[in-house]
Amino acid sequence: METTLAILKPDSVGAGNAGKILAHLEEEGFTLRGLKVLRLGEAQAREFYAVHKERPFYDSLVAFMTSGPVIPVALERENAVSFLREVMGATDSEQAEPGTLRNLYGTNIEQNAIHGSDSLENAATELRFFF
Ligand code: RTP
Ligand code: MG
Repeated sequence: METTLAILKPDSVGAGNAGKILAHLEEEGFTLRGLKVLRLGEAQAREFYAVHKERPFYDSLVAFMTSGPVIPVALERENAVSFLREVMGATDSEQAEPGTLRNLYGTNIEQNAIHGSDSLENAATELRFFF
């Protein structure tokens, strides 16, 4: 079993989609192992997405991620890291495959409903960040 980190982003929580997304994840075989509701401070958001600090979208991403409450979730499943990325769909919600979370609940390339760790190593680091 692996554990990965998802974050239900401010667009999901603000639109009242958190419960539906959590239910979808449970239906896909994930078990909830940790969950909290919090609002990221600017320094926290900058640290969490520091890998993107040279990218042109970094400041906008930080503004989005601090714009309202988020829900970090620790999710356990076989192949949790790669399977969550499949269930999420492509980064750009407008390109995300039908039935994926970003297709169902995201809006565009930035407001895309959910974060998921992209490797087992990053999952461990990101889980420690919140739990
Ligand atoms: P995440 O880290 O949130 O799971 O998303 P990801 O791996 O699919 O995409 P990544 O390249 O890591 O980008 C992180 C988040 O930054 C926002 N973004 N905006 N405006 C843009 O071109 C752009 N590109 C990315 C998205 O919120 C993306 O999820
Ligand atoms: Mg990423």
